[in-house]
Amino acid sequence: MRNVTVNLCALMLLGHVAFAQNTLSKAEQHRPQYHFSPRAHWMNDPNGMIYYKGTYHLFFQYYPDGSTWGPMHWGHATSKDMVHWHEQPIALYPDSLGYIFSGSAVLDSKNTSGLGKNGQVPLVAIFTHHNPRMEKEKTGKHEYQSIAYSLDEGKTWTKYAGNPVLPNPGISDFRDPKVRWFEPAKKWIMTLATKDHITFYSSPNLKDWAKESEFGKTIGAHGGVWECPDLFPLQHNGKQVWVLIVNINPGGPNGGSSTQYFVGDFDGKTFTPFSTDTKWMDYGADNYAGVTFANTGSRTILMGWMSNWQYANVVPTSPWRSANTIPRELGLKEVNKELFLTSTPVKELDVLNSTGFTVNKLAVKGQYDLTAKANNESGLFRLELATQKADDFSIVLANAEGNELVIGYDKKANAYYLDRSKSGTIDFEKGFGKRHTAPRLSTTPTISLTVMADVASVELFADNGLTVMTDIFFPEKPMNKLYLKSATGITVSNITYKTLKPALSNEQNN
Ligand code: FRU
Repeated sequence: MRNVTVNLCALMLLGHVAFAQNTLSKAEQHRPQYHFSPRAHWMNDPNGMIYYKGTYHLFFQYYPDGSTWGPMHWGHATSKDMVHWHEQPIALYPDSLGYIFSGSAVLDSKNTSGLGKNGQVPLVAIFTHHNPRMEKEKTGKHEYQSIAYSLDEGKTWTKYAGNPVLPNPGISDFRDPKVRWFEPAKKWIMTLATKDHITFYSSPNLKDWAKESEFGKTIGAHGGVWECPDLFPLQHNGKQVWVLIVNINPGGPNGGSSTQYFVGDFDGKTFTPFSTDTKWMDYGADNYAGVTFANTGSRTILMGWMSNWQYANVVPTSPWRSANTIPRELGLKEVNKELFLTSTPVKELDVLNSTGFTVNKLAVKGQYDLTAKANNESGLFRLELATQKADDFSIVLANAEGNELVIGYDKKANAYYLDRSKSGTIDFEKGFGKRHTAPRLSTTPTISLTVMADVASVELFADNGLTVMTDIFFPEKPMNKLYLKSATGITVSNITYKTLKPALSNEQNN
């Protein structure tokens, strides 16, 4: 056995060296440079995100034996700033109760669970066990909730001997528990996706759960199954308002997986929405299963999986599949007496800022070439742009191969759009090479936006994060050209452009 271990280590070392050589090869050409992606193999949803003692923990749906979805584990990565991530050993492996599906983690600072020992407070992960054997039996009871705990600040995890803690009442999709402490009632609240609605449960100790209420059977979008919910408070004009995020697959506004949300009130038992409209957190095709970090104080920070179930298993990357979005700070904004969720890049991302330029007052009719000013071969940049009026314009990322990714505003439709129909490799799935649109919600006369571009993704935050779009794309070469276009003519009041530095951790780039 010992020999086998030694040989395995030697093999892993070799693999690591081989991997190092790979980074410059064509195989790694779409490796995100400042978004987290696993060194190798398949990743989907972010799980158990928590900040504890100076470290952000990201767990994620992971299949370490292949680059398509398979028996789920919880992979693990840590970061001091949510920008530079370091991959860690796998945190949770499948067991006799099933695969380890999505879930959350909490700091049980009062040791309500009794899982803490010798004064060490436990981190507790609450996740779904998905039992493939029971799934075949078609009882509809193959998903149930379990817990695991860590007494060494998230490094290693022990599954609770009494699992599962919440059995399945006979609902075939019964998963993705997101748990938070609800101080007024001094109890834990679990928000659970239960097929076509949300069910809230409560517990004094993370082990015994009681049903509180259901929400959403007849509200919101129902084009697909409800997954990965989150419930959290945000401040608005000095008042606490609750936001309920519900991921849905398929049925998104631009096809496939997407994230809807509701704004309302939560009293520890029932969620009551202020309005019944369907609202979308991100209109792009590639922000799914996003939930918030636990234990970040007054900040509410979300990260999503930057892919879409419509094509996630066939995107042209190797030896890994999928990346996450950048972390985003969430807030609320009132427009026409309705409250909307806003998302903006977290301030920690500023460490990536490198050389750049600023232009004030620029009239553009036709095309203005910013390539020489940007002087950026990498395709990594952050661009802030403000216009004097809301007129038609587009920002075009391009390369000598003729690939183009277009970010624009269409005045007639009063909509933003991302067009990846000519963005490079698009033929791996017929619905991929499309133009995606998003309504402009802001009523201000001027437009302001932030664009975050990595080698294989673009994230648009328009009007201070009121309209957001995230799309991935696969160019043949880096998008090192940049144009501003307007057929009708537009005056830009300000452009600030910064090349961004890569943030790959050692495991990813050496
Ligand atoms: C969402 C999801 C979750 C589930 C996990 C399985 O993308 O389908 O509902 O827990 O992925 O990997």
